Amino acid sequence: MLEQDIDHILFSEETLHQRVVEMAAQIDRDYAGKEPLLVSVLRGSFIFMADLTRCITLPCTVDFMAVSSYGTRTKSSGQVKMIKDLTESAEGKDILVVEDILDSGNTLSYLLELLKARKPASIRLCTLLDKPSRRTKPVTADYSGFSIPDEFVVGYGLDYGEKYRNLPYIGVLKRRVYEEDMIKD
Ligand code: PRP
Repeated sequence: MLEQDIDHILFSEETLHQRVVEMAAQIDRDYAGKEPLLVSVLRGSFIFMADLTRCITLPCTVDFMAVSSYGTRTKSSGQVKMIKDLTESAEGKDILVVEDILDSGNTLSYLLELLKARKPASIRLCTLLDKPSRRTKPVTADYSGFSIPDEFVVGYGLDYGEKYRNLPYIGVLKRRVYEEDMIKD
């Protein structure tokens, strides 16, 4: 059972839903009269993207990108590689990049530079979680759901070793689950 590996719940389903509703309302206000293109960065953001999009009432379009950071289960190398690009052109669009977590900033710094070069009308970043203490690149979110300490969090799309994404809440992983891997890595 996945739940046996969770130390405690950080954000319950209800808390997540309430915050997603608030973020969508802010996006509705800020983009009034516009038609934003929501860009989900796979895979971690798929659940947040699905919930946020359903709470936004403005006309909008969606597209998906996938990138991978080289590294081990517990350490990122900082190198980012494009796995899947946008299907639609970004030129002239009001792009809102949707992420599950902003950590070192490596992924977003790479992606935002790449998208800016395509001449969008505007580009903003919306992240559900932010770990500011881990930042090594100067990336800031325009919309941030929760600022969190440096803990291993999983659920609601976030994984550890590709598991736990299906938990409906966000929880802190028990140390024993990743400590052995940290030694190996
Ligand atoms: C996570 C998350 C961000 C990135 C943030 O993706 O979805 O894309 O890490 O970390 P950074 O700020 O240190 O770059 P991950 O590489 O775990 O892949 P996933 O989305 O497929 O889970």
